[in-house]
Amino acid sequence: MRIDVLFSPADLEPDSYAGRTFVVIDILRATSAIVTALANGALDFRTVVTVDEALTLARKEDVILCGERRGLPIEGFHLGNSPREFNREVVGGKRLVMTTTNGTRAIEAAKIGSKVLIGSFLNRRYVVDFLASDGGDVVILCSSLRGRFSLEDTVGAGAISSCLSGDKADSAIAAERLFENYSSNLLQMLKESYAGRYLTSIGLEDDLPTCANIDSLRILPYFDFAKGVIWAAAGEG
Ligand code: MLT
Repeated sequence: MRIDVLFSPADLEPDSYAGRTFVVIDILRATSAIVTALANGALDFRTVVTVDEALTLARKEDVILCGERRGLPIEGFHLGNSPREFNREVVGGKRLVMTTTNGTRAIEAAKIGSKVLIGSFLNRRYVVDFLASDGGDVVILCSSLRGRFSLEDTVGAGAISSCLSGDKADSAIAAERLFENYSSNLLQMLKESYAGRYLTSIGLEDDLPTCANIDSLRILPYFDFAKGVIWAAAGEG
């Protein structure tokens, strides 16, 4: 197993990584929100890059629109991007359409892979268990901050890579060392991160402990190329 961590979708060279198993990480907050929603009984997600795409889908079918721009809920959408919003009463049995600043773009970029998994601290163990049993070469893709390095996504990548054995790129080793440095207090790391400080500045600090809750959900969302949606085999939630 070869393990690479990419700090941004901008680092994605198709010739080098096409066909691999991708794990997309957006700790604050897109992949944390997707994992939470599916653990709470949501049927599936479609991720789109633009608000117009999302609104067009909502005119055609009964979906919940969710996501953010500049961290805040989008006008005309049902939910923002706080995982706390995606509780069973709201999303249970529903189809969702999401667009966010970085996470949904990273998911789109990851579709050059043969598999696209949705990873976060929340379902870290479930992701690791799948990757270890699957054995395929892995790319852990950090959603980044508009192409700039993301501390929390890289620590999240290290949390996964550190549980795997294989031929690791320097980027994976570096991510693991960062994870080791923060593993005893992930919440403090989120508070130090740019994204964490920004969310706090707009009154969304309560998202940080939610997204830091490592190994708390046993579910593995993935992109189903045949159906065109992100869903999950029956997890234990
Ligand atoms: C992202 O796409 O970077 C995040 O979803 C941003 C956020 O949730 O505020």
